[in-house]
Amino acid sequence: MCGIVGFIGQRQAAPVLMEGLEKLSYRGYDSAGIAVLDERGKLLIRKEEGRIENLRSVLVKKPANGCAGIGHTRWATHGKPSRLNAHPHTDEKGRIAVVHNGIIENHEDIRRKLGVSCISQTDTEVIAHLLGALYDGDMQHTLLRAMKELKGSYALAVLCETEPEKLFCARQQSPLVMGFSADSGEGHIASDIPALIRHTRDVLILHDGEAGVVTREGMRVVNADGAACHHPLFHVGWDEASAEKGGFAHFMLKEIHEQPQALRDTFACRKGDWLPISKQEAQDMQMVTLAACGTAYHAALYGAYVLEKLARIRARAEIASEYRYRDVPVSENEWFVAVSQSGETADTLAALQKAKAMGMRTLAVCNVVGSGMARETQALCTHAGPEMAVASTKAYLTQVQMFLMMAITLGGMRGVISPAEAEERWRQMSLLPELATRTLQTHAQIERFVSRLQGCEHVFFIGRGLDYALAMEGALKLKEVSYVFSEAYAAGEMKHGPIALLEKGRLVAACITQEKLADKMISNLQEARARGAQVLAVCTEGLAERVRPHADECVVIPDADEYTAPMLAAIPLQLFAYSMAVARGCDVDKPRNLAKSVTVEEW
Ligand code: G6P
Repeated sequence: MCGIVGFIGQRQAAPVLMEGLEKLSYRGYDSAGIAVLDERGKLLIRKEEGRIENLRSVLVKKPANGCAGIGHTRWATHGKPSRLNAHPHTDEKGRIAVVHNGIIENHEDIRRKLGVSCISQTDTEVIAHLLGALYDGDMQHTLLRAMKELKGSYALAVLCETEPEKLFCARQQSPLVMGFSADSGEGHIASDIPALIRHTRDVLILHDGEAGVVTREGMRVVNADGAACHHPLFHVGWDEASAEKGGFAHFMLKEIHEQPQALRDTFACRKGDWLPISKQEAQDMQMVTLAACGTAYHAALYGAYVLEKLARIRARAEIASEYRYRDVPVSENEWFVAVSQSGETADTLAALQKAKAMGMRTLAVCNVVGSGMARETQALCTHAGPEMAVASTKAYLTQVQMFLMMAITLGGMRGVISPAEAEERWRQMSLLPELATRTLQTHAQIERFVSRLQGCEHVFFIGRGLDYALAMEGALKLKEVSYVFSEAYAAGEMKHGPIALLEKGRLVAACITQEKLADKMISNLQEARARGAQVLAVCTEGLAERVRPHADECVVIPDADEYTAPMLAAIPLQLFAYSMAVARGCDVDKPRNLAKSVTVEEW
């Protein structure tokens, strides 16, 4: 989730690249860099850690003059944010510069095969070395050969000293667009449309497996077999502000739609010894405490369930602001996991420090490489990319996914799930991006339902088992963005008090993805309707026939196994919160009184 720009024309490249990077800074901003070909055809590389302004200051002191260049703003995934890890990266001879978005899954294998030593910790540097090793005088052709070896998702822009009149690019599962203006004789490359909307509104969208070239005369694209592709140009009708949101009305909606990719990217981390826990440690593990705040706490609740169920480890989720002040006895071989999108939340960080001080083995699950928690302990990073909306969506879903990955791996190491069962669980997880894409189609139905929900001020979310953890997240999302009073209950608890509040005008939102608990949930729906409340049910395809007669609105998600179905069901709940917020005219991306990252204890 970084940003890529490229420019070739008659004027200086650096200012155009910097302007493009500014436009993309919402994609990531922990370091930035550019490569420019000077008039002698030499590559000049400038990069700096931190915000784009820092790179700007470097360029004031050390200008990079030339009319062709590529640039990158980084959101670290492999290797911490630092100048060394910032893009562009070069091959051994320093003649080829590469910027990259995405993840190269087999970068270690390629590095070993090439026998090169890298100076950075990034997977990107390996691409530069690979291109250097394969280079045959034609970079577009070389890119196609390199793509046959690269596994993962990537968008690349490449600059090469021996072909100074050209900018190269390639794409596999990570967006990349090209633009050309015949009037000015300028060509552009960008990972996102906002970076080039100033220069041209007619863009060429590269498809997976293709490689492109932009020159001062035009652009050319070839497919994996080297055959020319003639894609029609896409005319951008949006203004600059909505272009940053990829045409979506709000960042929250854009991020909800980015979930299939976020799930795909996070799944890709699972290879080799991805979990920093040895087999012996896994077998000795007695207890896991997961501590977090807000949405991350709900992901921790899911985590505790699956660690118990699949890895047979006692596990509990704790609210970090409570845990840090409690006097909890620690057992031997107890692990502590801090969960946080930002990796900076003060209460979670303090709980982590306390756990360390008590001698517990610790880990963090966070979305920001190099964040406070990642510096404090070993971090498992979700690959959701930068999240701009205050209300967390894609970071939540990938945290949940990370816990499922953890539970399957630990279950295997502890010998409590068979290799065949683990394989089946991984297979189910691999289906998630596709199923999540299908689940996004529930938006229109949810919008229609919301438009009929006039004056609804109280919503109860209910669920059982994993669906209870999900119901808690549904309730939080709704109150965060729409200011509608919402609470979540374990469905079995309704009869112990909350049912007293049910009457006409109340809505009960029920999450029903767990087959073995479905009958009990249906009884809860009947109880709610008998008291005049409306029912919104979110259930799997397989349960729809049984649930539908008991709901005023039934949102159906694709069938999936018991662990991944609640992840899919999170999507309609996010869309419900979003649609309610829009219908009520709320500031969706920046809800009142809330902050994205709460780095002080009280504020
Ligand atoms: C704030 C945000 C919440 C978020 C919580 C934890 O309260 O408003 O949306 O869930 O912090 O943030 P973290 O970065 O630790 O996940």
